Amino acid sequence: MIIKNISLRNNTGLFTIHIVDHIISKIEKFKADEIYDDNDVIDGEGNLAMPPYVEPHIHYDTLLTAGEPRWNTSGTLFEGIGIWLDRKKSLTKKDVKERAITAMKWQIAQGVQFVRTHIDITDHKLTALEAILEVKEEMSNYLEIQIVAFPQEGIVSFNGTENLIIKAIELGADAVGGIPHFEFTREDGVESVKKSFEIAIKYDKMLDFHCDEIDDEQSRFIEVVAAEAHKNNYGKFVSASHATAMHSYNNAYTSKLFRLLSISDISIIANPLVNINLQGRFDTFPKRRGITRVKELLDSGINVCFGTDDIFDPFYSLGTGNMLNVLNMGLHVCQMLGYEQVKKSFDLITTNSASALNITKDYGLEVGNTANLIIVSGKDEFDILRRMAPIEYSIRKGKVIAHTIPSVSKIFINGTNEVINFNK
Ligand code: FE2
Repeated sequence: MIIKNISLRNNTGLFTIHIVDHIISKIEKFKADEIYDDNDVIDGEGNLAMPPYVEPHIHYDTLLTAGEPRWNTSGTLFEGIGIWLDRKKSLTKKDVKERAITAMKWQIAQGVQFVRTHIDITDHKLTALEAILEVKEEMSNYLEIQIVAFPQEGIVSFNGTENLIIKAIELGADAVGGIPHFEFTREDGVESVKKSFEIAIKYDKMLDFHCDEIDDEQSRFIEVVAAEAHKNNYGKFVSASHATAMHSYNNAYTSKLFRLLSISDISIIANPLVNINLQGRFDTFPKRRGITRVKELLDSGINVCFGTDDIFDPFYSLGTGNMLNVLNMGLHVCQMLGYEQVKKSFDLITTNSASALNITKDYGLEVGNTANLIIVSGKDEFDILRRMAPIEYSIRKGKVIAHTIPSVSKIFINGTNEVINFNK
């Protein structure tokens, strides 16, 4: 396969990518008059090619259940958790698989090829986990999926969670989760983090915590996560998701915290679409934005990326898993719409996420890497975000797995008609 006439991030001019046996064999300057000895040529028409989008945080088990058995009327995380606990009583493997596969198809159509999903394992039958393990295998040619054994109801505060995490790992989970701010007491929260680390290190697994997803400025479990990561020299395998309480920490404490985060080498996964909806619900006015300190963390050299978290479920009632929606919201609430900030921001849904997920080899448009890439309908990152441009092609292992034909509109003014194409 040859992909000609494309732009590349952080480069000027146009390029041609050659793919042989699923591998990127050559990247060269585009020559308009060149005739290729290959039947499989895609003309990128000057659009931007980049590595596939990475979804670092989504709940495949809860998605597409909004309104079942009831809607979240307060809009809070904790009402959402209560609704989910009722819904999960009626889970079947078929139910979980069908919903997850629907969402996966939406992701594939929108340029996602790598995913980390949190699956609630505080269920003695492990129904959802078994369902997602099966789907992971069935979809493996299209999506590379990591599963976090996520103890939604806590580790110390729920009977038998430690054994369920171990069982989940033995069945095939890739990472150990935690939710320290949901445990009954601060001490239980600290103990839960330590237990997660013990299990993960013993079984050689990654860690990803739901960490401080609350507007309580006293919720400081991220320091415990980072300290454990540092002590165990394990930071590159550790992520703290959400970390919204950091929004409310005082600046003196945050300054001290940033040093620890920096030396611990952990990643922060923010979920701006969902947290702008869930947080600030107990505020009157002014209302907090409920997102971690993205710009400041990045400026301090700490790895940050953005995830979707939820699609049409008790925590968030909209969405299709489109990473540009996530990025758009995150850049607005973090006030990062400067030209250079927008251009750089695509790292937050590509390379930074890959780094958080430890996808460190074979990701990126480089000679020798597997030919996984997307071609987005725009000339550069700013252009793409401004118009929320679709993915024209998603290519995995040298084969097209998604092709979107951008839509056009006709307008009728003064007796004429004109075609308007927002996607070009
Ligand atoms: Fe989550």
